[in-house]
Amino acid sequence: MGSDISRGRGSGSTRLDSYVDRYAARTSGMTASEIRALFSVASRPEVVSLAGGMPNISGLPLDVVAGAIHDLVQRNGATAMQYGSGQGDPTLREQICDVMRLEGVDAHPDDVVVTVGSQQAVDLVTRIFCDPGDVVICEAPSYVGALGVFRSYECDVVHTEMDSDGLVPSTLRNTIATLKSQGRRIKFLYTIPNHHNPAGVTLTAQRRTEILEICREADVLVLEDNPYGLLGFDGEPIRAMRADEADGVIYLGSFSKTFAPGFRVGWVLAPHAVREKLVLAQESATLCPPAFSQMAVSAYLTNHDWLGQIKQFREMYRERRDAMIQALDDMMPASARWNVPGGGFYVWLTLPDGLDAKAMLPRAVTARVAYVPGTAFFADGFGAQSMRLSYCFPTPERIREGVHRLVGVIDDELELRETFGATARGVHRGYESPNTDLT
Ligand SMILES: Cc1ncc(COP(=O)(O)O)c(C=O)c1O
Repeated sequence: MGSDISRGRGSGSTRLDSYVDRYAARTSGMTASEIRALFSVASRPEVVSLAGGMPNISGLPLDVVAGAIHDLVQRNGATAMQYGSGQGDPTLREQICDVMRLEGVDAHPDDVVVTVGSQQAVDLVTRIFCDPGDVVICEAPSYVGALGVFRSYECDVVHTEMDSDGLVPSTLRNTIATLKSQGRRIKFLYTIPNHHNPAGVTLTAQRRTEILEICREADVLVLEDNPYGLLGFDGEPIRAMRADEADGVIYLGSFSKTFAPGFRVGWVLAPHAVREKLVLAQESATLCPPAFSQMAVSAYLTNHDWLGQIKQFREMYRERRDAMIQALDDMMPASARWNVPGGGFYVWLTLPDGLDAKAMLPRAVTARVAYVPGTAFFADGFGAQSMRLSYCFPTPERIREGVHRLVGVIDDELELRETFGATARGVHRGYESPNTDLT
């Protein structure tokens, strides 16, 4: 009998993994994200975690949800606990169309595929479109969970610039032209237009039109990932890109942030032909999305004032956003920059020149505050000077305390830098470093 170490169990280290020669090549791209590595320390009660992006569902009426689930089991349990359709529950797909209508999307339930969270939607879309070496264009920075999917299908991620108004159309145009001139195969543009994770910015209406035009002209599909669209703090929901372009846009939605992530219900809205392929991919991945979860979400939507609930979520997140921005305004050194998100969960902060958020993290955790270093949101090591701060979960008082601790760490780093010189090192991967200051 080999020991746990010789069998590579429990060590988490590839060097000690005796199965290493047997894995498929694609697993080489599968590494624990910087967020996952942080979870164990960040979840200690003495640490103020500005790291995780967990929805704050403390305001959910659990009695209402419990009642809906109780009724579901009693009245419809045999169906809820059975296999279902690979495309997803027809009633829920109709309700999903009602949800998307709030963002101007006129869709037919036949074109919706229910998925296990929108995370699985990213996976299925990549599975049906991407061969190893195909290019996926992503914002700089981009959602860490999507980067993990693209890596696992051995895609090449090419980042393209954002600023405070979201993805920059002129840079996108140049990126596409350069890739095409190199003979690269671009499979799609992956974009999070609303209340971006991690950047906190929202794409302006004018840029949406321009980006759709650029992609139409270049024949590049758009993968519009929109889990935060209904969590804007001001005004009406923003019109989805999919509302103005049915053929060239694949739209992803989720109930994780507007209801609860534990049900793991998301969806894809795709052109009809693509929908066919997605259902086949879904069937081979899971046979069908869980009937029980789908029917529970459907019952919640039918029996509860879910729009009223989203309004409450928005108010709660807005209060926390305000607490974070106030604390940053009051305490951060003038040479740090950050944006003021109009919705969602995240602020993107760029440190004073010469500081490195990744190198600083152990000292921050020692000071009992956690964040996610910007490098987690790039495929290739950029973003060291920036970090993602989440305000969704801690109370306003804890947010202020967290920022206070973070500022202490930054002040110490600045002092060290004065004494010993810069810690940040530029990383070059053969193309120009994207701007990571999004203010
Ligand atoms: C931009 C983005 N897309 C997709 C997801 C996945 O969400 P879920 O699978 O819970 O729907 C997340 C979760 O944080 C996200 O931020």
